[in-house]
Amino acid sequence: MCGIVGYVGDKNAQDFLVSGLKRLEYRGYDSAGVATFDESGKATLVKTKGKIADLESKLARERREDKAGIGHTRWATHGEPSEVNAHPHQVGDIYLVHNGIIENYKELKDQLKGYEFKSETDSEVLAALIDSFYKNGEYPLTNAVVQALKLVKGTYGIAVMSDKNPDEIVVARAGSPLVIGVGHGETLIASDASALLGHTKQAIYLNDGEIATVSKNSVEIKTLNAEPVSAKVEEIETNLAAIQKDGYEHFLLKEIMEQPESLKETLRGRVNTRDWMVHLGGPGLTEGELRKVKHLVIVGCGTAYHAGLLAAYYIEQFTPEITVEVVIASEYRYRQAYIPRDSVALIVSQSGETADTLACLREIKKQGVPTIGIVNAIGSTIAREVDGGTYVHVGPEISVASTKAFTSQAVAMVMFGLTIAQAKGVRSGILRPYISEIAKLPEEIKRVLDEFNEPMQEMAQKYKDYDHAIYLGRDTAYPTAMEGALKLKEISYIDANAYAFGELKHGPLALVDDRFFEFALLPEGELYDKAVSNVQEVLARGGHVIAVTNKKEFDLPVEDVVKITTSIELMAPILMNLIAQLFAYYIAVGKGYDVDQPRNLAKSVTVE
Ligand code: G6P
Repeated sequence: MCGIVGYVGDKNAQDFLVSGLKRLEYRGYDSAGVATFDESGKATLVKTKGKIADLESKLARERREDKAGIGHTRWATHGEPSEVNAHPHQVGDIYLVHNGIIENYKELKDQLKGYEFKSETDSEVLAALIDSFYKNGEYPLTNAVVQALKLVKGTYGIAVMSDKNPDEIVVARAGSPLVIGVGHGETLIASDASALLGHTKQAIYLNDGEIATVSKNSVEIKTLNAEPVSAKVEEIETNLAAIQKDGYEHFLLKEIMEQPESLKETLRGRVNTRDWMVHLGGPGLTEGELRKVKHLVIVGCGTAYHAGLLAAYYIEQFTPEITVEVVIASEYRYRQAYIPRDSVALIVSQSGETADTLACLREIKKQGVPTIGIVNAIGSTIAREVDGGTYVHVGPEISVASTKAFTSQAVAMVMFGLTIAQAKGVRSGILRPYISEIAKLPEEIKRVLDEFNEPMQEMAQKYKDYDHAIYLGRDTAYPTAMEGALKLKEISYIDANAYAFGELKHGPLALVDDRFFEFALLPEGELYDKAVSNVQEVLARGGHVIAVTNKKEFDLPVEDVVKITTSIELMAPILMNLIAQLFAYYIAVGKGYDVDQPRNLAKSVTVE
């Protein structure tokens, strides 16, 4: 969601800004722009509605040799996607790009006399506010930005330049990430370190409440209260290969197919099949603290929330005397929820930047509850603010729809549950089947993906023109059904909803007709027969059922069966989810949609 880039150095700024914005494309956007400056301060501002490719063709006609500038991809919040609402916003001498939301922009706008606003955005108001303190360069730009930010309510990551001093960029953050790349004779700015790869591996992650003044050879950081901050330069861990398609047509398919390897990374050094124990160092809780845990709160949004729901079923199965509450971050942050003593909160986020999840983390910390991050993006805000954590280590996930992160988040949380169970002295006979299946999962995932990639492509052809779908499951297959339905609606725009099988008769059964197909998850186990009876009820009403099962003797007269042969039992829903991922992917491809960047969606939702 919204991307920021900036450059000051000896090379062509337009080149970096465009290549950096391309790297950030995956986050979701609907317009883009760049402003570059020559040595005298003459600015070239180019903006466009639509894709970076459109910006590139415009820039080809406005080619400059400028050595400094800022750029932005915008995901509309205030005002429609249009050229005039696109960033950078120019007001007087000030050029600004902004991620986040200025909540009090209306009040500020009313107070700013003498400015005529061109756009409908909150960001242009911030640019005017900075300009009002800058007074044609009478005051240093950094001071003007500080004065302005002190009046702002809301969230921001900003990069600001002035045509009076084109050698300097001022960046600041409160709630929206910003990274400063330290190069040789150049300094780069990005809202996501992936934009810096290929230029530098040295990065400074700005913290909330900090402001940095950067030029080609210097980075000076202070807090908004003018206290100096000593910059910590960190190594960016991601490499270029990890953010390229590697021969796949789409990142989504690459990420689905990567799951055997990405899950191995999640498990590496953490699952021991010699002593059948799980060892997680990151959470940093002692054996005694783990033993005392009675309640888990799992917080996330979207796919991360579904991963939490799935993990909760498992954790409750093998850990006695523990309750697990899984909550949607955007709801939880405003609930007056009391968290009982002896609780631990798991904060689940692929990006580590989701605004609602981050807000919950901060609220929960205020209650003194230990917070553990289940995060992918290393060095992200959530990763830095939690008390301890377990990185899932799946590498960059570029496609907006989350796939490999889901699998690893769910398994990582189950592993955390296992560490609690171990500390509580749960018999190894109870825990061992879970540990043994987790250890086998990467291989089994590989087998399932290899076997079903092509068949799912064929099956998708048959179902791609339906308007509606119902995903069904019970127990651990229920959150899996929810995740399957989310995948389908995100990328194929088919109206897909998930229900627990037991809820069918309480409403959804009324929907069954020829406009719908039903995607039924039927893992072998205690509740298999009950789920089969529910499928029969759907079939009796003319439903179009796809059954996904690992039951050997399966003979229901459904329209299609995906029969998974595997030694995995308890964790079979994780394998079934792979089928749902492939199915959704091939339906979206069959419909000719932009699978990696579905309309209206963003990868990292950094505003409420
Ligand atoms: C967005 C993404 C989803 C993701 C959700 C939570 O909606 O499109 O794929 O599951 O945010 O993101 P997070 O980074 O916190 O896991």
